[in-house]
Amino acid sequence: MKYRTIGKDPRTRREVSVLSLGAMLFGTATDEPTSFAILDRFVEAGGTFIDTSNNYAFWKTGGQGGESEAVLGRWRRSRGITDEVVIATKVGARPLAPGTSFVDNAEGLSGKVIRESAERSRERLGVEKLDLLYAHIEDPVVPLAETVESFAGLVAEGTVGLLGVSNHWAWRVERARALAAAAGLPGYEVLQYHHSYLRRRTDLPGVLSPDGDHAAVGGDLLSYLRAEPELALVAYTPLLSGAYVRADRPLGPRYDHAGTPVRLAALGEVAEETGASVNQVVLSWLIGGEIPVIPLVGASSVEQLEDSLAAVDLELTADQRAKLDAAAGP
Ligand SMILES: NC(=O)c1ccc[n+]([C@@H]2O[C@H](COP(=O)([O-])OP(=O)(O)OC[C@H]3O[C@@H](n4cnc5c(N)ncnc54)[C@H](OP(=O)(O)O)[C@@H]3O)[C@@H](O)[C@H]2O)c1
Repeated sequence: MKYRTIGKDPRTRREVSVLSLGAMLFGTATDEPTSFAILDRFVEAGGTFIDTSNNYAFWKTGGQGGESEAVLGRWRRSRGITDEVVIATKVGARPLAPGTSFVDNAEGLSGKVIRESAERSRERLGVEKLDLLYAHIEDPVVPLAETVESFAGLVAEGTVGLLGVSNHWAWRVERARALAAAAGLPGYEVLQYHHSYLRRRTDLPGVLSPDGDHAAVGGDLLSYLRAEPELALVAYTPLLSGAYVRADRPLGPRYDHAGTPVRLAALGEVAEETGASVNQVVLSWLIGGEIPVIPLVGASSVEQLEDSLAAVDLELTADQRAKLDAAAGP
């Protein structure tokens, strides 16, 4: 395994594995023994960065989520895991009632919700302190200052370590960080978005914004990250749910643009040259890029995880990287 640091402040920054494991479906689609086996293998291989949320996986149960955090809590306790593994979780997108969704009935990011939901997450995970807490989705109603101050309050009282943000327009991230900086408060340091080698169309209306898809990394965010190298980018769904390697997982209309075949061709060539799988080339490209990215992979079996773990040791040559970088669409 290889490691890197997330966060800048020496009091809160953490060292994490360059590959992160997503626990989204643990405890629902993936049963508990299988989840434990995947988690054990990840840690055995040196993995120290795990991702969940307080709303995982409400859509699998018709409930409000929390199953994934609860499985992680039982796994931590049964294995005696303490500080050596960083477990990130998220608040803000938990549906307020069973049978509803974050699209029109999310808990949001008020001070009250942030405090109470973080407390529930700590209970389910069985920890005194959440290592990393993200704002899962934007709250268009609550003033940003309230959200910023509430997250900072949890850091000040010691119940949260690092702060992160997911699925926000880049300008909202910058505004929140500017508010925090002006008030001398800790701000978001870890950004979690969908990102992979193939780029999806960002002009189609997103699930949460009529202005486009702000859940996927686009030019605005890349430019922001280049300017703020101390921020860390965590890329969710980097394997496109298996679509790179599985005929049963079509890419869908968001990848229906001129850049996709060009990128797929470059990917195929590099995979053949290296003898690695296409998934591994994608993960290695993300990890070792000019803007280093932490891929956040899902796995429903130990075998799938093994395939992703091997990507950490795949070193692309400068030529291979240049070929992949150059294969942009129009
Ligand atoms: N911030 C957010 O809004 C957000 C949104 C989505 C996800 N996430 C986080 O990101 C994590 C990963 O998301 P994801 O599961 O969508 O990512 P992903 O890594 O793109 O997809 C994982 C899925 O791909 C398939 N797969 C993986 N390795 C494979 C292999 N070697 N061969 C064939 N198929 C393979 C499996 O599907 P099957 O299990 O069906 O076989 C697996 O469950 C989640 O657990 C969650 O923590 C965050």
